Amino acid sequence: MTGRAQPRVLRTVAEWRAACDAVRSSGRRLGLVPTLGALHHAHQALMQAARAASDVVGVTIFVNPTQFGPGEDFDRYPRDLAGDLDKCAEAGVELVFAPERAEMYPAGEMTRVLVSGLSEGLCGPFRPGHFAGVATIVAKLFSATGPCTAVFGRKDYQQLRVIQRMTSDLLLPVRILEHPTQRDADGLATSSRNRYLSASERERALAIPRALGVLAQRFAAGTRDAVQLSQLLAAELGRAELSVEYAELARTSDLQPFTSGTVEPGAAGAFIAARAGSTRLIDNVILGEDRAPLDPAPRGPAAERTSA
Ligand code: PAF
Repeated sequence: MTGRAQPRVLRTVAEWRAACDAVRSSGRRLGLVPTLGALHHAHQALMQAARAASDVVGVTIFVNPTQFGPGEDFDRYPRDLAGDLDKCAEAGVELVFAPERAEMYPAGEMTRVLVSGLSEGLCGPFRPGHFAGVATIVAKLFSATGPCTAVFGRKDYQQLRVIQRMTSDLLLPVRILEHPTQRDADGLATSSRNRYLSASERERALAIPRALGVLAQRFAAGTRDAVQLSQLLAAELGRAELSVEYAELARTSDLQPFTSGTVEPGAAGAFIAARAGSTRLIDNVILGEDRAPLDPAPRGPAAERTSA
């Protein structure tokens, strides 16, 4: 427990909707941070960004079954509602929505939201159905919440782009705020799954932020040729003791491979998915926008961007 007031916990869609409506009808703006729980400092950074953009912050905590494939870590995904509520209290969150599965997927449900194109590259082939699961649950959460500003991290860049597209395609009244990737002190992108790593796996995983750092620095130093940048990424990851799923230069517009030509700042990212032991890690830098992961200069809300 912390000294800060614990958030109010709502368990049903009807209660959550009523609480969100009450915030808006009192003239206050609502900020939303959807999560799977197992909260950590990167989630708290999202909560602070939501707070800066609104008057009341709501967090959703739901381990969404439809975004986990067969053999993935749905059953062992860490669940600790009491610890999560303490993290929310520390960050000054007022409302938490923690529904049961049947609340979000009522008996007989048949609907999935598919964002084609953006879901197909990068993680798409390695996690069939994952982005349909994400788009479906986020559409449901947005529908239950109503007008708000929702904050998502750029570590899950493909997820962020899928959610942006889904929100604008379905005309949902939600403003999406992007938040820079948060990193642990050693440079590894903060993730709830990092707790699965042994010390030696974590050591090996650091090849990911190192490789992205080399790319970001080389871009900052003036290298703009897509072929050279792709080769550099492959060479950096080639030395790593990781099982690499992809290490790809992709366009930020459609997440398709950026295979030739000149890369303008913000037009491409270097994207990596790799396993250290059985733990799957993803990370990225958007070239010309994100700092090198191990760059000691401060990161923070200054790098935020919004999209409608
Ligand atoms: O990034 C996450 O935590 C989840 O994918 C999200 C967006 C909450 C959907 O379940």
